[in-house]
Amino acid sequence: MSAEIIYGRELAEDIRERMTKEVADLRELGVVPGLAVVIVGNDPASLSYVRGKDKASKKVGLESNLIELPEEVTQQELLDLVDRLNHDSEVHGILVQLPLPDHINEDEIIEAISPSKDVDGFHPISIGRMMAGKDTFLPCTPLGILTMFKEKEISLEGKHVVVLGRSRIVGKPIGQMLLNENATVTYCHSRTKNIKEFTQKADILIVAVGKPGFISGEDIKDGAVVIDVGVNRIEDGSLTGDVDFESALEKASYITPVPRGVGPMTITMLLKNTIQAAKQLNQ
Ligand code: GUN
Repeated sequence: MSAEIIYGRELAEDIRERMTKEVADLRELGVVPGLAVVIVGNDPASLSYVRGKDKASKKVGLESNLIELPEEVTQQELLDLVDRLNHDSEVHGILVQLPLPDHINEDEIIEAISPSKDVDGFHPISIGRMMAGKDTFLPCTPLGILTMFKEKEISLEGKHVVVLGRSRIVGKPIGQMLLNENATVTYCHSRTKNIKEFTQKADILIVAVGKPGFISGEDIKDGAVVIDVGVNRIEDGSLTGDVDFESALEKASYITPVPRGVGPMTITMLLKNTIQAAKQLNQ
């Protein structure tokens, strides 16, 4: 079997085209969706991500404000900024890029963001609502993956999903969101024993461990759906995922590539959440 490759980039382009029209319609009604993206320090990978988010936002017609702060910013300065953005009526979505430097208490910053502007879906209120299966902002990478399943009509009900990784950004929320879709979910992580015994039983395998080539064809079941969330820069400077693409392609039924897979969907879902926030705050 050779898998169908799910190109997130193509799906993302279609969705962004529809969004551009929606934003133009909102602007006609006097609603200009605004996003504030905050980055602390000058980690090249994080800077490149947030500049991508800023550029994509502007391209669909959002008002995007990229705020770059020095590494030495204090907890209080960051809290004051979040407070100002919470009260700014032109800002509908706030994203503080993670990770933050060690001297910053990340949880306190996330909790300071107004849940009504939490377009990242990381606030405990958003997470609680997600756990309860209620309508809320969902974290962008998992929402992008869920959207891929829906667009490709990949059924989730009763499927055994194995999630590798338990991060706040991807692993934990994607498992919960797929549980909400009636999948059976197993979480594996760095302390899991005999991980490959789990991966070989997965109908759907979601890999978010940050290790190039962690999963290869022999680790997956015939016909499995393989979603590669890894973004690893290797020695020659190119990007690669957590899955050995060539060997997995032979066994899987669907597979996402890196790059051009999950990444573009993440940014698109940020735009989606921001438009939703603008609509809700103007109701
Ligand atoms: N760092 C890596 N991915 C993300 C994300 O989706 N949101 C934020 N805030 N930080 C990130």
